[in-house]
Amino acid sequence: MVMINLAYLLASVCFILGLKGLTHPRTAVRGNTLGAVGMLIAVVVTLFDHAILSYELILVGLVVGAAIGAVLALRIQMTAMPQMVALLNGFGGAASMLVAGAALLEMLVIDPAAVQSAQFTIATAAAGLIGSITFWGSLVAFGKLQGYTLELHLKGQKFINAILLIVAVALGGWLVFDPSMTNIYWGLLAVAALLGVLLVLPIGGADMPVVIALLNSYSGLAAAATGFVLNNNALIITGSLVGASGVILTNIMCKAMNRSLTNVLFGVWVPSESVESADDVYAGKVKASTAEELAMLLEGAQRVVIVPGYGMAVAQAQHAVRDLVELLEDRGVEVEFAIHPVAGRMPGHMNVLLAEVDVPYEKLKEMDEINPTFAQADIAIVIGANDVVNPVARTNPSSPIAGMPILNVDKARSVIVIKRSLSPGFAGIPNPLFAADNTLMFFSDAKKGTLDLVNALKEV
Ligand code: TAP
Repeated sequence: MVMINLAYLLASVCFILGLKGLTHPRTAVRGNTLGAVGMLIAVVVTLFDHAILSYELILVGLVVGAAIGAVLALRIQMTAMPQMVALLNGFGGAASMLVAGAALLEMLVIDPAAVQSAQFTIATAAAGLIGSITFWGSLVAFGKLQGYTLELHLKGQKFINAILLIVAVALGGWLVFDPSMTNIYWGLLAVAALLGVLLVLPIGGADMPVVIALLNSYSGLAAAATGFVLNNNALIITGSLVGASGVILTNIMCKAMNRSLTNVLFGVWVPSESVESADDVYAGKVKASTAEELAMLLEGAQRVVIVPGYGMAVAQAQHAVRDLVELLEDRGVEVEFAIHPVAGRMPGHMNVLLAEVDVPYEKLKEMDEINPTFAQADIAIVIGANDVVNPVARTNPSSPIAGMPILNVDKARSVIVIKRSLSPGFAGIPNPLFAADNTLMFFSDAKKGTLDLVNALKEV
């Protein structure tokens, strides 16, 4: 037992150092490897645990799980990554509630005295409650991101949710009081399932990334609770790490959108009446341009800042963008990327896409670093971004994005915006940047437009 716990401690140290490594691109690969080594140690040591009854079953589980995981990972589109993460969180929650349930059934047979311990019963109830909310909530989040229309706004929904939570906690209390009543456990799972579904259903599809980060945190808490059920220190530590990092991530995302978590979870995002209409903002002021004209403009630039957004991800334009950067650099232009913390639809969305095409991470500048330098940029090229460059966040205190920190693209000498139309982004509001004197719109799909620009630049 001592050896097993020492090995778990070593695995946990690997996880913590791994997480630390993941905080910077230079150490991220090493961090990832360290985390994987920690997981290998934890899994192998657990297999030596005396309580294991059937290695055959474990092997079957490993093979089936690995096969499904590999197929999903190979097939998933980069833009569908948030759905994938939602599913994985959900499976984590499901595993916790099922393992805790199985431990309850098993213990009732092999060691009824142990079932009476408060640690075991409270942890079982907690794993069931949180695990079931996580699983069902994640399934709804997955469905919403996948584009299924899943909306339900009941009258008194918050009241119903509060009642469901009270019933679930009461069932948990009953289980602690009399753990031999296994039906109570299944009842608890059912009530928590309903709660999970009702909690996520009314939240707008576009807020799902924040919800997923929160559900990720819940899946960690469920795992930590299961660790107390099984007396497994590695599970307690990893669950706590996931729980804490999920909350930190949720907080970062809320801050970057200048919204509170309560507003995301319970608020309804109604466009404010004081937002100007698209006609008022754009009529007669938008200047459209062509690849050839823009190539000539770029020809004279010395410093260019590229601002990628959701549209670059949708169009999978990152390869074309890398080609554009190389071409500009060959001509002596200094090129940098300005990365907004919530550009795209998931944390690190732009960083992942640009890393995929080997854009050196030194070129990726965070918002606080790049913002003071926009005034020294000859040209800012906005590729499929909208809200993260909307100056209204600074100027209109009643706009839905008021106070959201944005990239100050409008301060650059000239701005080129590549997007298909004047359609709004996630926040659903017009963007005066597109009508600014120093802005030229290039109406095109991000990939096609960037490639056209590359070809036109080659001709100049
Ligand atoms: P958005 O403001 O959502 O704007 C994206 C723009 O991309 C749209 O206006 C759209 O215009 C354009 N687009 C779509 N498909 C395109 C294509 N194939 N080619 C070219 N353009 C295309 O994106 P953003 O600036 O990245 O901001 C992200 C938003 O998401 C923020 O409001 C943020 O708060 C929110 N959000 C982010 C996260 C995370 S963690 N990243 C989580 C939750 C919410 P057209 O249709 O005219 O082309």
